[in-house]
Amino acid sequence: MTSLATVITGASSGIGEALAHLFAPEQQPLVLVARRKEKLDELAKTLNNKHGVKVHVIALDLEQVGAAAELMNAIANLNLSVDTLVNNAGFGVSAPFAKADGAKLSGMMQLNMVTLTELTHLALPAMLERKHGRIMNIASVVAFQPCPYFAVYAASKAYVLSFTEALAAEISDRGILVTAVCPGSTNTEFHSVANSKGSFADKIAESPVMVAEEAYKALNNGKTVIVTGLMNKPVPVISRIVPRKTMTWAVAKMLGK
Ligand SMILES: NC(=O)c1ccc[n+]([C@@H]2O[C@H](COP(=O)([O-])OP(=O)(O)OC[C@H]3O[C@@H](n4cnc5c(N)ncnc54)[C@H](OP(=O)(O)O)[C@@H]3O)[C@@H](O)[C@H]2O)c1
Repeated sequence: MTSLATVITGASSGIGEALAHLFAPEQQPLVLVARRKEKLDELAKTLNNKHGVKVHVIALDLEQVGAAAELMNAIANLNLSVDTLVNNAGFGVSAPFAKADGAKLSGMMQLNMVTLTELTHLALPAMLERKHGRIMNIASVVAFQPCPYFAVYAASKAYVLSFTEALAAEISDRGILVTAVCPGSTNTEFHSVANSKGSFADKIAESPVMVAEEAYKALNNGKTVIVTGLMNKPVPVISRIVPRKTMTWAVAKMLGK
């Protein structure tokens, strides 16, 4: 018999790991996905000991073309169907665009946008059939304006925000909750991976537990977009009021290398 499951990508650290702690008490089997299997195994053990929940680990590189289909097949082979999908895995590249590593940029676009979209597309039919499901997509506050020196990353998160809002409008009356989460700078492995350690954004980073708690609450309350962290709440309004060119100039000054 097929059971319903909560799938969290990028659960081996940061926001994804914090989210796993919040979904675990729901007692729905969890599927944790990332590349570092040992970290996922450790988290699975902790969650199982604490909550008695069944936790499956799938170690997979979601930057690879076809990874979404591979993951969905692996989930089906466990006799599970996705009831809650948390598209959290993602990373940033901080560099002047001309100097950024091209392969890294391509991998980032594949992970942040393509895999996220394909997973949603593959998981949605069964949710629609059941008239029940939840989709949480992790965007960012950088989704609201262009970000020089994080140009491709910010554009990828603008995609996630736009896609998620549009999807929510299409299916919000079909029993499926859809939320785009827009965290500000968060104290995770993000800045080490993005090469932005020590930057202004890194210095003002907030707790991943706080981000996860706000995100989880927003999803269950049916909010389409949540900007987490008090300091970040005004960002969408400011970016509508201040001319885009001025905002972009200010961000360039803040993030300039
Ligand atoms: N931290 C921030 O300032 C911030 C702000 C706004 C939005 N966000 C977004 O929040 C999400 C979570 O990031 P985080 O801050 O928690 O950073 P993090 O600690 O670096 O976590 C990123 C997660 O994504 C996974 N991941 C990365 N590349 C992967 C790949 N190729 N295949 C599978 N999994 C992969 C990582 O696992 P493995 O390395 O084990 O694969 C890890 O579990 C991302 O989408 C990020 O863009 C972060």
